[in-house]
Amino acid sequence: MASDLAGMRDDYDTSGLEPGDLGGDPMDAARRWFDDAIAAGVPQPNAMSLATATATGLSSVRTVLLKAIDDGFVWYTSYASRKGRELEANPRAAISLTWVTMHRQLRAEGTVGRLTTSASDAYFVSRPRGAQIAAVASSQSEPVDDRRALEERFSAVAATVGEDPVARPPHWGGYRLVADRIEFWQGRRDRMHDRIEFGRDGTRWSIRRLSP
Ligand SMILES: Cc1cc2nc3c(=O)[nH]c(=O)nc-3n(C[C@H](O)[C@H](O)[C@H](O)COP(=O)(O)O)c2cc1C
Repeated sequence: MASDLAGMRDDYDTSGLEPGDLGGDPMDAARRWFDDAIAAGVPQPNAMSLATATATGLSSVRTVLLKAIDDGFVWYTSYASRKGRELEANPRAAISLTWVTMHRQLRAEGTVGRLTTSASDAYFVSRPRGAQIAAVASSQSEPVDDRRALEERFSAVAATVGEDPVARPPHWGGYRLVADRIEFWQGRRDRMHDRIEFGRDGTRWSIRRLSP
């Protein structure tokens, strides 16, 4: 192997993180960390790992784009995709955002539900037209013979739609993960990192520090 993978390591020398820095509401803190990542110019700060699992606990992970932080963490996808099918069978999921140049990681676990159809419609309308056509043309996660078959499907949908607005296909829309655990990780020297975890306790959040 050309590169020394085992020897690759950075020391994270950032200022620390105390529970009081985050305030009492971890969703507010998550929004502030996201704004910090934008302000720091982190590339694709909204790239979020999303882990799902089948009803029998077989897990899978992929990246999606975080589109909102409100009562939860919101993204859009195909409900018929692998992740969609897993979420319909098992609504528990986990997410992780890594803002590596800031030595920060945000993790959350919780229960996932679909956005309302009107919320999904509103976001779908805002998407570029090519992405709207692709949402209709592509059966996400299903095998397809080759690239040409995919592009023919795109062209066929584009021709059918013509100049009309593209209607959101019913299998495409948003999900929201409402967290019951949220962890803020701040890298420190000598791997003595700061980890602050919020746990939902009914309507309140409890907070504790975890060992790195
Ligand atoms: C940076 C990045 C952003 C992505 N954003 C999305 C997204 O917002 N929604 C989505 O369905 N797939 C997105 N994808 C593609 C997914 O990672 C994945 O390939 C796709 O959703 C199918 O996953 P599944 O078969 O596990 O359902 C993104 C991939 C990358 C690398």
